Parts: sequence; C-alpha cells; structure tokens
Amino acid sequence: MSEPQFIQLYQHNATAVAQELLLGLSAPQAFTSPKYLYDALGSRLFEAITELPEYDLTRTEAQLMRLHSADMAKHLPSGACWIDLGAGNCEKAGRLLGPMQAGRYVAVDISVDFVRQALDSLQRQHPGLRMAGLGTDFSGGLELPEALALAPAQPRVLFYPGSSIGNFTPEQALDFLQSLHRACGTAAGSGLLIGVDLIKDAAELEAAYDDMLGVTAAFDLNLLLHINRLVGSDFSVRDWRHLSRFNADQSRVEMHLQARQTVRVQWPGGERLFAQGETIHTENACKWRVPGFEALLLSAGFASTRVWTDPAQRFAVLWAAA
Ligand code: AVI
Repeated sequence: MSEPQFIQLYQHNATAVAQELLLGLSAPQAFTSPKYLYDALGSRLFEAITELPEYDLTRTEAQLMRLHSADMAKHLPSGACWIDLGAGNCEKAGRLLGPMQAGRYVAVDISVDFVRQALDSLQRQHPGLRMAGLGTDFSGGLELPEALALAPAQPRVLFYPGSSIGNFTPEQALDFLQSLHRACGTAAGSGLLIGVDLIKDAAELEAAYDDMLGVTAAFDLNLLLHINRLVGSDFSVRDWRHLSRFNADQSRVEMHLQARQTVRVQWPGGERLFAQGETIHTENACKWRVPGFEALLLSAGFASTRVWTDPAQRFAVLWAAA
C-alpha cells in the first residue's frame, strides 16, 4: 500500500494575523476575513450548518454529483491528478475518485493535520492510489510546490466544491480563478470542477444564513472568541447579535455582527468604540447566475464550460476545461 506524503507550507505568523485583523476591525466599516470563522469549534459548527433544513447547498451539490457522475466521467480526464481545495474530511472528493478513475489525489487545506486522518483512511480504501496532503493558505491564490513532484504530462482536475468561491467578491474570484487556471498546468484535458450556489429568493437566502436553531449565529459569534485569542481583545459575545442580509445590488448574502448597545473593545495597544447598531462585516456569500459564472471562468482563462444543475436551478456544478 502507498503511504500518503504530507507537506506543510503554511506557518502561522501571529504578528501578521493580528495586524490583518486589527486593520479590518479599525476600518470605518469594520470587517474580518471569513477564514477566521474556522477555528476548531467554527469548523464543527460549519459541519452542523450543512445539515440544517434551511441550508440545502451541500445536499443539493452532493445530489448533483451523484446524479450526473456518469456524464461527468465522460467530460473529465481519467487517470488525472485530483487536487482537492479545502479538502477537510476528504469526503466529497473521496466519493468521486473511483468513478472518475483518478490517477493521483492531493488534499489541500490550511493545515495537513486537518486532512491527515481522512487521508490515511482514504488511502486504505484506495491502496494503489498515490496521495498527498498539502497544508497551505490558498485564499490568496494557489501555488503548487515542487515537492509534490507533479508529472507535467498527467492531466489535473482542480476540485473546488461547496460554493466556497462565493466567499470571494467577483474581483477576488477572478484573481483566484486565474491562479487555478495557472495551476491546471499544461497537460491536455486538465480543468476545474467547481460548485456554485445560484441566486434565489432573498428570504430563502437570508434564512439559509440565519437558521431557526441559531447554529449560523453561533458560527458567526464564535468568531469573536477566536479574535480574542488571536489579538488579545476583550469582545464579549453577549454584546453582539448575528445578522444575515441579502444585498441585491451585489447579489450576495452578507453576514454581520451588530453591536446591541455602545460597545468599547480593547486590545493591547488599541481600542475601538462601536456605536449601538454598528456592525462588523464577517462574510460575503456571493450568489451567481449560470451565464455570469461561465463568463467569469472564461475571463479567468478557461477555454470552455459544461454545466450540471438541478431542475429548480438552485445550484450548479461546472466543469471548466483549461
Ligand atoms: C464555506 N462557505 C461556502 C459557506 C457559505 O455558504 O458561504 C460558509 C457559511 N457561512 C454561513 N453559512 C455557511
């Protein structure tokens, strides 16, 4: 049986993280990067979100992949190296490796520790498949290290499910997709398999990000505890409420934390007074229409697209050939 290879590139730099967070918290409209939503508890809360009745995105995508896997296999290269972006428990890609006849698998996440266990068990299911875990922060663009020794002639399938692309603004998404296009390399047949949540009724979208059980609220509020650990601030969760708003002009759901009353937040070397009702913008979840997203892929350098969607057009899975 092959042994997975593990490469950790990302190194936590406490000073840089604190600087980035404090810059956002001090801006006129305070904001934080959505990546800080995912500490250990945040990641578990996100898993719970995917099971909520209001948040059907993950289930709809899984159903699309199941229903259309035979057709997908006709368009995607066999024997390819699958590069799974934000792999986590490797479950989504794990279901496709066999049917798509993958030739290699690379699980990418910020820390190899997040993928270690899942990769070891996936390796037992596919003993002959060469596997690697890559710990890197790819939110600013994907770079694949020499240490992976990717074969130039082997096609690559970049796999980016879950509509994580929605957490970028369209401008950021274009830059990011350009980096994915470069990462496809030069072998014929390579491309990107990506899941995108589509525009739907505003009330439904807002409910998907503000569920009745309050799991998304807990996910958002937990950010404050994470920030306290990262910058030494004194946010108190009880001073804040979670909001989800559909911004129709920008086609996105915005998550905000809103001050319940005037709140003074202090951290080593600084502080900020938040007026009652003022917010910290914690996440964008951009929603797309299929033609707009296809146009984005083409401007990022991809040559053509193939789309699978459900009858109600709630979600789309696209294959963008490099
Ligand atoms: C990870 N990402 C695609 C989720 C989304 O739908 O934007 C994160 C999330 N935030 C609140 N609920 C789910």
